[in-house]
Amino acid sequence: MEVIKDYNGRDYRTVWQHPRAKFEDEIETGVTKRLLSEDKGWFIDIGGGYGRLYPVLKKEGRNIVFADFAMNLLEIAEKDIGANSDVFLVAANAYYMPFKDSTFDGGLSIRVFHHMSDPEKFLRECARILSSGGRIMMEYANKRNLARTFKRGAQALREDHEAYGELLYGTHPRFYAKTVDQTGFTLRKTLGVGFIPRFITEKNVFLVPLLRPIEKFLDAVFGTRNLGPLNFTDIQKTGEKTPPNTASFNSIICCPACKKDVEDVGTGMKCTSCARTYPKVGKIYDFRYTADAQLGK
Ligand SMILES: C[S@@+](CC[C@H](N)C(=O)[O-])C[C@H]1O[C@@H](n2cnc3c(N)ncnc32)[C@H](O)[C@@H]1O
Repeated sequence: MEVIKDYNGRDYRTVWQHPRAKFEDEIETGVTKRLLSEDKGWFIDIGGGYGRLYPVLKKEGRNIVFADFAMNLLEIAEKDIGANSDVFLVAANAYYMPFKDSTFDGGLSIRVFHHMSDPEKFLRECARILSSGGRIMMEYANKRNLARTFKRGAQALREDHEAYGELLYGTHPRFYAKTVDQTGFTLRKTLGVGFIPRFITEKNVFLVPLLRPIEKFLDAVFGTRNLGPLNFTDIQKTGEKTPPNTASFNSIICCPACKKDVEDVGTGMKCTSCARTYPKVGKIYDFRYTADAQLGK
């Protein structure tokens, strides 16, 4: 059964105030630019939080949906980027997304897979909403990274989705590749990064300009061999690539529970089949649906 890591009540922006954060953000932005699909049409940031990556995702001819379970983070996104006509904010559970089959031309998901208690179910749902041939840039924590293999030995080499703590997982690259393959995707490329940031503290942050080339070297030598702590992957839904989806927002959404059409009832959306209602608060569509899932901290 899936359990949701709940960021409600927590200001995720504080993570980016750590001394190493600027360096980490720079690394993630760089690798995102390298791997992200160029596709126009509908694009989704799954578990997109407060929209940190909007400046990287923004593109002429692209509509971007930020889907996240945490209403508080979407409220921040609404204040910061909500006025842009290409931004759509949707509160949703990544296991039950309120989008019709084959909707999105592309997408990404960063720092989310490591919270997924049921990675197969999550990837299946990603495949469902993606159009044929569509690509998602998916990041996961590589449990078999170089440092961890030295530290943990056989435990790091075990090919599984290992719980590091409550709702925090590290995934073996082979387990990831197998799950990707079983859920209707092809793994096109993996770039491993993030060797240096964990060693940055307030005291040594001044060394970042010197450490930058070392990170680049480690990324090139070990990151490309599946030994980096953070694996950024480019995965593609099987099938022929289709032209960009030009449908309106109202025609890409559906009931997250029964997947049937929803209609606008003024205060939000209502399912035309099961009659469930989903409120709209400001610019945020609240489609959170949890079935039998539990919330976890
Ligand atoms: C570490 S944050 C990353 C946020 C964003 N991707 C970024 O890199 O700035 C993880 C995000 O995943 C979201 N999340 C975790 N489980 C989820 C689920 N089942 N459905 C939707 N969002 C989820 C959390 O609410 C949180 O915003």
